[in-house]
Amino acid sequence: MATRDLNGAVALVTGASSGIGEATARILAARGATVAMAARRTDRLESLCAEIAANGGTAVPVELDVSDREAAEAAVAHAVAELGRLDVLVNNAGVMLLGPMLEAPVEEWKQMVEVNLLGLMYMTKAAVPHLLEAAEGARGVADVVNISSVAGRIARRNSGVYNATKFGVGAFSESLRQEVTGRHVRVSLVEPGAVATELQGHNRPGVKEEIEKRFVDMEILQAEDIADAIEYVVTRPPHVAISEVLVRPTEQEQ
Ligand SMILES: NC(=O)c1ccc[n+]([C@@H]2O[C@H](COP(=O)([O-])OP(=O)(O)OC[C@H]3O[C@@H](n4cnc5c(N)ncnc54)[C@H](OP(=O)(O)O)[C@@H]3O)[C@@H](O)[C@H]2O)c1
Repeated sequence: MATRDLNGAVALVTGASSGIGEATARILAARGATVAMAARRTDRLESLCAEIAANGGTAVPVELDVSDREAAEAAVAHAVAELGRLDVLVNNAGVMLLGPMLEAPVEEWKQMVEVNLLGLMYMTKAAVPHLLEAAEGARGVADVVNISSVAGRIARRNSGVYNATKFGVGAFSESLRQEVTGRHVRVSLVEPGAVATELQGHNRPGVKEEIEKRFVDMEILQAEDIADAIEYVVTRPPHVAISEVLVRPTEQEQ
């Protein structure tokens, strides 16, 4: 049984309706945090909140499209109003739409920039004042955990705009870290390699099969493997900041 050392803390997890966000919400709730679970698919959120409650945790659903700035601000305000504070923001919502640049629908690029990068920035800007306030309390720190990717470190053919958004997340995170770390808000970057989730399923036919081919002979990660890294980051003692964690399947070369 996990130590409930996040008792009294409030976490907001975006993209909590599936994959890494869902696993993260479960694990943070098991550690005692009250979790605001945000995404567009509220039916999924509601059943996950019920499951967490049945296991003795507390979670609330928050309907959110992170690419809508006003909605992002309202989601943070709503979580703080309903749950009283905000200690941890996990910016996990993301889309990965790959394929050769010359053939790509520009709408896919726009969606990736608006969700992966701008959405994460809107959420962070709205949350930081509350995190700064929380860091002055008994826990002594607050956390922003930004989910980037191996794709935020290494650019690959057919992945240019996704790479650009995740490289951007890295730059934004490091700059923000320098701005707020002196006031005990830790900013961490978690960079997964290939994880078995719904992420690649949103790609166009042809592109999807190409992605699947790349990992067909490999044991890839499970969402829980990344949630585990996020749990580690946010449960360090107040004087320890884990700035960056890169987690790959053992067999993934790049
Ligand atoms: N899977 C991998 O191999 C891998 C590798 C490296 C990094 N990552 C990163 O991990 C993060 C989570 O992805 P995943 O693998 O867990 O994929 P996933 O199962 O597809 O989850 C993506 C989540 O993002 C949410 N989302 C998408 N667009 C949104 C929007 N406009 N507003 C709010 N929420 C939105 C989805 O919820 P709704 O559709 O309900 O809104 C869903 O909950 C992403 O940032 C991804 O880039 C994944």
